[in-house]
Parts: sequence; structure tokens; C-alpha cells
Amino acid sequence: MAQRVLTGITTTGTLHLGNYVGAIRPAIAASREAGVESFYFMADYHALIKCDDPARIEASRLQIAATWLAAGLDPAKVTFYRQSDIPEIPELTWLLTCVTSKGQMNRAHAYKASVDANLAAGEDADANISMGLYSYPILMAADILMFNAHRVPVGKDQVQHIEMARDVAQRFNHLFGQGQEFFVLPEAQTDAEMELLPGLDGRKMSKSYDNAIPLFEGGAKALREAIARIVTDSKLPGEPKEPEGTALMTIYDAFATPAQRAAFRAELRGGLAWGEAKQRLYDLIDAEIGPMRDKYDALMAHPERIEAALQEGAAKARAIAAPLLARLREAVGLRRFQPLKAAVAEAPKAKAALPVFKQYREADGRFYFKLSAHDGRVLLQSEGFAGGRDAGEWVKKLKTEGAAALAGAPVARGDGVADSEVAEALAALVAAAAE
Ligand code: TRP
Repeated sequence: MAQRVLTGITTTGTLHLGNYVGAIRPAIAASREAGVESFYFMADYHALIKCDDPARIEASRLQIAATWLAAGLDPAKVTFYRQSDIPEIPELTWLLTCVTSKGQMNRAHAYKASVDANLAAGEDADANISMGLYSYPILMAADILMFNAHRVPVGKDQVQHIEMARDVAQRFNHLFGQGQEFFVLPEAQTDAEMELLPGLDGRKMSKSYDNAIPLFEGGAKALREAIARIVTDSKLPGEPKEPEGTALMTIYDAFATPAQRAAFRAELRGGLAWGEAKQRLYDLIDAEIGPMRDKYDALMAHPERIEAALQEGAAKARAIAAPLLARLREAVGLRRFQPLKAAVAEAPKAKAALPVFKQYREADGRFYFKLSAHDGRVLLQSEGFAGGRDAGEWVKKLKTEGAAALAGAPVARGDGVADSEVAEALAALVAAAAE
């Protein structure tokens, strides 16, 4: 099967240059690779979690759809759709919700950050936290698992959500698969390109810092005005300037060839005025996005063309989603009525499958391990280690010494997991090693 790549953008605002460089442009490039099947969608159900302004939701999903198409996405080559046009996604969300432990959701970064903010403000821990926010990762897991995506390009802040999607996929496969795997286990893909572009003030570009350079909204004028506001030092024309590490240079690099990058550095070191440098930056960016902006404006004037593309996309997506969902409904027992099979005498319990240790490296560069029960639940989660060997040694110790090695081990119990369960799991591993 072709590698399936899938990603979504939450439709709560318009896109800025950082979104284009970090997400849209690489996604469109990837969609042209051979052997890749791409799924790109507007996460408009996710948008409802953060926004109760219908006009804003309406505008954003149209603008973001137009942006994808204007930037060169070919809807004939990819599956391009709105999440809310695929009723199978919320249906799958429920099936997954029923096999997700609440404890795991308690640990989701986005939810925890909201709780922390509440507590810091002296509020009730759950003030203003909707069930939508709380269950956000399960809806996201459904987005991904519905299409059996192998790779999910996301920013670093989303990696935990992909981990959660893997866990819930594993659990569902185990509970209902009877040997078959309904879901592919997805991998997060965090490219260097997803590193966020700096904004006007040098911090990462973000609407919430009010330092964003708009992509298409406001036209060429808004682009020019934003570039004029990029913060520089106060060196005068003719004075040598150090380009490295400046927001202006980093943004320039995102659009330039290697030769252009070198030439621009040399000019700045040679005393090029900041005003002149900004003009060059504008010309460079506009050469790439100017033609796209014309397409964007044309599309925005004809929403029915975008609508038609998305209706086709939804049909393509549902042709994949519906048959899988039918199998899942069957698997969990939501079946057409038929005479019941005579109650089968309970088969003797097969020897329980062993828990497993897994070692892995996170985006933070540190090494981790975890102990998972045979059904995929996390029993123990380690802290991060600087070296893979340290992690390996702890795994070995726990495997050979069992619960006795727990005191002093840099691990935390999984949510809702009892001490006795961890002890039994370790004992089973020790026994298996001795066999
Ligand atoms: N949560 C993602 C974000 O805010 C958007 C998103 C929703 C997504 N569903 C997804 C990304 C599925 C990748 C795959 O950036």
C-alpha cells in the first residue's frame, strides 16, 4: 500500500506566512511525490472547540480551503475535504472514546495547560474547559485512524496527540481485532520546516503574539506593511550588519535559493540599508506568493468552485471511511439483527499475553521507555534519559529484578494503574525470562 500522509488545519482564523512555510508548502510538495497518498483537510469540528462565532468559522474554513488550492494543491491528486463533511469521523470518535482511559486524557498538554492557567488565576481547575477541549485528542485520533494514515506531519506541540492516537489504535485493535488490525499505527513527522518561522519581533510567528505576516489577506499592501514592521537593530545605511539570527534573514532564507542567501548576507555585511533589505525581502516573497494571491482572490470570488472541489473530496474520503466504519461497527457488536449464536461455553483462558517494554526517542532528543500491558495500556512511563544506554539498563533491571527494582527507578505509574498491576506485570516478565 502507498504511504498515506494526512494532516489537518484547524479553521479558526486566516493563515500567515509561517503556516505557509511550515505546513502548506511542504504538504503540497509531499503530495507530488511518487508512492504517496495524501489526505489534507479543514479541521472544522476542532475549530468549534475554540470558537463560538459562526461567522468566523464560516469565513475561516472558506479562506483556508482557498489558500490550499491557491498555493497549488491539486485536488485530483490528493483527498482534500472538510472534516465536518465526513459523518464517519464523529462516529469513529465515539467508538474510540469508549476505549480511551480518562486518565490518559488528563495528561493531554492542551488540557493540562488550561487547568494550570485556571489554577494560576485562582479559578476552579475546570473553569471554561469544555468536554470538546478535553476530548480533543480523541477526535484527532479519529481523523487519523479513519484513513489509516502512516505519517502525520505536525508541529512539535502535536506529537503527544499522535502518540495518543497510536495508543488508542493499539487498544482498539487488541480488544476487537481478533487477530486482524483495523488500524495502522501512525507516526508523527516533525520536519525542520515545521520549525516555526520567526515573526516581526523575532519570537515565533503567531497570531496570539500579534507579530504575524499575513499570507493573502489584505493583499500586497498588507504584506509590504508587515515587512516594514520587522524589528531590526538601529545600524545606519552603510554600516555593516550581522544577518545571522535576525528575523529578517531567517524569513528571507525560507524563500531563497542557496545562492540568494549567500549574496544577501554579503550585502548586509557590506552595509546594505535595512530599508533596502526589506524591499528585497518583499520582492522575493511576492515573486512566490503574488501569483498565488491572484488565484486566491479569484477563488474567494467563486466559493462555489471551492465547494464543488470539496464535495468531490468528501465523496472520495467517504468511499474509504464508510467501509472501514462498517467493519468497526460489526466488530464492536453493532450488527444487523440475526438469530443469536448459542452461548459459547467460555473457552479456557489462553495464556495471557506478556506486557512489553518499549524504548524510543522523543522529539526533545531524550530517550524514554515504557511498559505497556498486553492491551496497550501504559503501566509505567519513564523519565527522559540523555543516553539510550541508561534507558536500556533500567529496562534490563526491571525485567530481571521485577518490582524490587521499582524503588528508585525513574518511572511513573500510568494513570489509573494500580501498584499491584505493575507488580504482576513485572513478575510475569521475570518468570518468562526464567523459563
Ligand atoms: N490539532 C491540529 C492542530 O491544531 C489540527 C488537526 C486536527 C490535525 N486533526 C488533525 C493535525 C489530524 C493532524 C492530523 O494543529
